[in-house]
Amino acid sequence: MLFEVKHLSHCYADGESEILVLDDVNLSFDAGVFYTITGESGSGKTTLLSLMGTLETLQQGELLFQGQPVSDPLTFRQKELGFVFQSYNLISYMTARENVEVALDLAKKEPTVVEQVTEMLLKSPLVHNDDSKKETDDIYRLLSLFGLDRQKANRIVTKLSGGEQQRVAIARAVAKKPSILLCDEPTGNLDQKTSQIMVEYFTLLAHTLGMCVIVVTHDPRIADCSDSSIVLDSIRKGPVMR
Ligand SMILES: Nc1ncnc2c1ncn2[C@@H]1O[C@H](COP(=O)(O)OP(=O)(O)OP(=O)(O)O)[C@@H](O)[C@H]1O
Ligand SMILES: [Mg+2]
Repeated sequence: MLFEVKHLSHCYADGESEILVLDDVNLSFDAGVFYTITGESGSGKTTLLSLMGTLETLQQGELLFQGQPVSDPLTFRQKELGFVFQSYNLISYMTARENVEVALDLAKKEPTVVEQVTEMLLKSPLVHNDDSKKETDDIYRLLSLFGLDRQKANRIVTKLSGGEQQRVAIARAVAKKPSILLCDEPTGNLDQKTSQIMVEYFTLLAHTLGMCVIVVTHDPRIADCSDSSIVLDSIRKGPVMR
């Protein structure tokens, strides 16, 4: 088991009272699997993802990575996690390439990691990109695997389309080869065709790179394409594995 959530409960203060958003949630995640988490609005999906991503402090329960409690959230986040959010969270005054470079600097991983990621992606039968094969620079090559040529890679990200920005966000998240990719409604702003391409990428990252890909989504078509779908039930408060 790669990653486990044990007895996780979470409350938010609401004026005088408290709202219990997650009540004793227990989940297990394996490497190489594409998971989706669905559930009605307000059921606690973003809260769960924020807690799993150590972006929010745990009130009750624990996270285990490779069987050990996550004792150093900052290092865990930098080394093992990649994030993709609906709002992209790219650095708006930088180019696509610079966004990837900043993420790599923060992760403090060996420089060959991007080469490893691109080599593995290129082996996949899902990728038919002769331009990527010809590209010699690792970061340009990674971006080109996500459909962004050098010209787009060197453009300030706000001058890219929504779908292109989302692909930069995914390239940035996977560049450091995280063990776990956490995505919150990553296809929310995208048309159906681009969403479908994203789903293919998630499958590829899980099955080719062995990543544990966890995607929160409202779209049942995306859930149908995943290997395992978890439904957060806001009435029972507990997750149901399907
Ligand atoms: N910081 C906060 N303070 C107080 N209440 C919050 C806070 N963040 C979220 N909530 C409440 O907790 C509940 C769960 O919110 P959350 O954002 O996790 O839901 P969600 O399943 O992601 O919903 P959506 O599908 O609309 O994105 C909601 O009722 C929300 O109003
Ligand atoms: Mg949400």
